[in-house]
Amino acid sequence: MAIISPSMLSCDFANIQRDVEMINNSGADWFHIDVMDGVFVPNISFGFPVLAAMKKHAKKPMDVHLMIAHADHFVSEFKKAGADMLTVHYEACTHLHRTIQLINSEGMKAGVALNPHTSVDALDEILSDLDLVLIMSVNPGFGGQKFITSSLDKVSKLKEKIKSKKLSALIEVDGGVNLETGAQLIKAGADALVAGSFVFGSSNPAETITALKKL
Ligand code: DX5
Ligand code: ZN
Repeated sequence: MAIISPSMLSCDFANIQRDVEMINNSGADWFHIDVMDGVFVPNISFGFPVLAAMKKHAKKPMDVHLMIAHADHFVSEFKKAGADMLTVHYEACTHLHRTIQLINSEGMKAGVALNPHTSVDALDEILSDLDLVLIMSVNPGFGGQKFITSSLDKVSKLKEKIKSKKLSALIEVDGGVNLETGAQLIKAGADALVAGSFVFGSSNPAETITALKKL
């Protein structure tokens, strides 16, 4: 049974509390929270006040996905705003090892996200320091995009590395997840699935979460 992390990027921002409660009462495991800066990705989402507002009501861990430049400058601010897990992009961090240490020193779990063009081999020297690897199965920046099928091979390859080195990093996949791609991802070795438009765009989001949970 995979961890399900619904992406709040697709929630109704005029009814955030209602949507947070829906997730509290659903079978979901985490809240996936996408922070975009208009620099690393061509879109801007939301920042600290919105995270803190969600945290006031959230009864499950906040899985925060940073799509921003200069993540180091903001690590402690994200902790204060309520992040439990902080994931930074490999492509946006020059001193990735230092950033991971910083996240851990703030008492958060640390993750690294890989864009579709980045090989999982890029993490060889740092995999043992990670709690989570986030495989992007779309180009980051927007919800509702089509799943990139080659992500499945990346998941299998990474799973093999984690197993053979007896490491504990979880594999999370983000972008274009639905029942069909979700089943393929779990088969390939994914531990956690992010789903935004598939959950919030459905007529019964809680039931959709249950269906993902049953995969
Ligand atoms: C995209 C974000 C995703 C997004 C996924 O940059 O990282 O978390 O919300 O949306 P869907 O599930 O609609 O592809
Ligand atoms: Zn995300």
